[in-house]
Amino acid sequence: MSVGNCVIMSSETMRSVLLRVCEIWSSRPLPGRGPDSTRCRRPYRIHLLLSLAVLALAACGGEDTERASSDCVECHRDVTPNIVTDWELSRHSSEGVDCSLCHGDQHRSADDVALVQTATPDVCATCHPIQTEQFQGGKHALAWASMNAMPTTHWLPMALTEGMKGCGGCHRIGLKTEEEIQQLRADGVMFGLASCDTCHTRHLFSVKEAREPQACRTCHMGIDHPQWEMYSSSKHGVRHLLKQTGTLPEQAAAPTCQTCHMPKGDHGVRTAWGFLAVRLPMPEDPEWAADRATILKALGVLDPQGNPTARLEVVKQADVARLTQEDWQRERDRMTGICEQCHSSNLVRAELEKGDQMIRETDRLLAEAIRIIASLYRDGILSKPDHYAYDYPDLLAFHDAPTAIEQRLFKMHLEHRMRAFQGTFHNNPDYALWYGWSEMLQDLTEIRTLAQEMRSRHQATVRNLIE
Ligand code: HEC
Ligand code: HEC
Ligand code: HEC
Ligand code: HEC
Ligand code: HEC
Ligand code: HEC
Ligand code: HEC
Ligand code: HEC
Repeated sequence: MSVGNCVIMSSETMRSVLLRVCEIWSSRPLPGRGPDSTRCRRPYRIHLLLSLAVLALAACGGEDTERASSDCVECHRDVTPNIVTDWELSRHSSEGVDCSLCHGDQHRSADDVALVQTATPDVCATCHPIQTEQFQGGKHALAWASMNAMPTTHWLPMALTEGMKGCGGCHRIGLKTEEEIQQLRADGVMFGLASCDTCHTRHLFSVKEAREPQACRTCHMGIDHPQWEMYSSSKHGVRHLLKQTGTLPEQAAAPTCQTCHMPKGDHGVRTAWGFLAVRLPMPEDPEWAADRATILKALGVLDPQGNPTARLEVVKQADVARLTQEDWQRERDRMTGICEQCHSSNLVRAELEKGDQMIRETDRLLAEAIRIIASLYRDGILSKPDHYAYDYPDLLAFHDAPTAIEQRLFKMHLEHRMRAFQGTFHNNPDYALWYGWSEMLQDLTEIRTLAQEMRSRHQATVRNLIE
């Protein structure tokens, strides 16, 4: 069938054209990849857009399309000059992957900007199936969903979440559904839909940038996950930063975030304990098991009687906790193997176990604080807010917790407990001790004192009522 001078092909033919284009590209030697690379060879869901672009390339007799693509570049040299410069510096430019292959060729002027297509991971997947598949199986892919699963997300100003200025600014790394993308675009969100541009940023898409730990910094920093701060001032990070300044030789051993978390360029990140450091099965140590049960109640995945709740399903779906011993052990073994590239196995085992021990110790303190506040609910000194499911403190209420004592618990959990164990795993003594453990003890003292005051005030009120 033909329309104008273009031939419309069946989707089968389209796919073979695309695969042919991919073959030409992958027949060149690629860094770090052998000749048996499966890139482009496996049948892959082909993004309609790209198919059309390639279709045009293949079927419309080069001229029109070449003009269309150079039109993009020529006009954008005036409209967005530095985007064009960046693209010209990229591998994509030298490989002939031009603007229209990612954005479509429907938009041609200032009057039809709405026709620009979003360069979602589906678009990248047509040429980079391996990285996309790995990414889809890792924790980053779930970031948008896990953010939306938090009740607090929906009480924040729109600019912070959908607007990518708060939670969304980091969690945009997660995959979004087609409907979510359409909704965001309709709400006027002009970026943050792509996921794949968060480490190798547009339009350089530079692998060198992605390999440096700074690529992770914007998100892995701050209150509850200061991995950048911990790493960059640990001996591991200091050595790497000294390599960057040329003080230490290029070959000197110094692990980056990527060495430990993206070995061999694996795009599927995941750790043994994860962010909240809770997992199943429950520990054998009865004291630790009781502490963890208390924490699970405060996370709302168990009800105050200890029965599973609907939230447990949400947690499972977002892969927030490792649910089996095997799940956990697989990640631990992988990490151990990485450390052993530079350290003795004795050192590694001992070091990683210290991280586990710190989780147990911090669980002690946190569980005690939760029990103190839970007893205020039990004794009627605190009453259930409308947005709580139970008469019990809710850690996932974050800063929307209703009382000062619960706000303190929120910080103890999300800021100080995180720092205590994350600092231990990342070899940062100051974070483990002063910003972590020491702060937790102060939180606990304050929570005890506040609870005591609240009880006394409550008793006085009750006495007054009786008299
Ligand atoms: C004749 C000029 C012209 C041509 C040709 C052109 N563009 Fe644009 N493009 C614009 C203008 C103007 C804007 C709006 C920029 C602004 O608001 O600052 C724009 C915006 C965009 C945007 C951003 C969309 C958004 O929502 O912010 C993308 C992506 C884009 N163009 C890609 C392309 C691609 C791909 C081609 C070639 C198929 C192309 N452009 C051809 C002028 C052009
Ligand atoms: C039409 C095919 C095509 C599309 C679509 C495409 N790429 Fe590429 N990309 C290539 C080719 C070809 C190379 C160069 C060979 C290689 O390194 O794989 C490349 C290289 C890269 C590199 C390595 C750059 C370097 O510095 O060596 C990154 C990173 C990358 N692409 C990311 C992306 C992302 C992210 C997307 C989606 C937003 C994307 N690509 C879309 C074809 C494509
Ligand atoms: C745009 C923000 C962003 C960037 C950049 C980013 N991350 Fe993440 N990362 C996140 C978010 C958000 C999560 C939590 C995902 C979720 O909600 O499931 C996460 C989770 C992780 C986890 C999983 C922890 C677990 O639960 O087991 C690891 C490991 C990780 N990131 C490593 C890295 C590394 C290494 C880099 C740099 C190469 C990096 N990240 C870059 C935002 C980012
Ligand atoms: C490898 C794929 C790829 C190529 C090639 C590409 N872009 Fe983009 N572009 C993206 C991605 C990814 C985004 C970010 C989308 C998002 O965040 O939702 C983007 C965003 C944009 C934006 C809007 C964001 C901003 O910073 O203003 C403009 C304008 C744009 N591209 C223009 C161009 C032009 C012009 C070219 C060619 C010179 C080009 N792009 C080539 C992937 C690509
Ligand atoms: C968390 C950060 C991060 C995100 C998000 C990310 N990448 Fe990467 N990417 C990297 C790192 C690090 C490397 C370098 C890996 C290595 O050392 O071989 C890389 C390399 C690449 C390469 C070049 C591979 C090579 O061997 O030349 C491609 C292509 C690529 N990524 C595509 C993607 C695509 C597609 C997505 C989205 C599905 C994506 N990346 C998302 C960090 C990231
Ligand atoms: C020397 C190896 C190493 C380096 C370098 C490293 N990490 Fe980690 N990381 C670990 C270990 C070990 C854990 C704990 C794994 C477990 O759960 O058993 C961890 C855990 C994490 C977690 C899960 C929560 C936590 O902190 O316990 C994230 C996210 C993370 N690292 C991100 C990063 C980022 C980002 C960087 C760079 C700024 C980085 N890591 C540097 C080894 C490393
Ligand atoms: C500065 C970037 C950033 C901001 C802002 C941010 N997050 Fe995160 N978030 C992350 C990173 C990075 C992780 C992974 C940390 C780790 O594993 O140590 C994470 C982890 C999470 C997790 C745990 C996911 C899991 O499966 O383990 C949830 C839930 C979450 N964030 C929700 C939110 C909500 C809700 C907000 C806003 C109130 C928010 N985040 C703001 C970067 C951010
Ligand atoms: C690429 C090599 C490399 C990898 C991988 C690596 N390390 Fe290291 N590590 C070093 C070097 C180099 C030093 C600095 C030696 C010194 O302090 O004299 C170091 C120091 C340490 C120290 C001592 C810190 C200090 O302040 O002296 C500990 C503990 C440690 N590493 C644990 C680990 C653990 C646990 C892992 C895996 C999660 C790991 N390392 C992975 C190279 C590595």
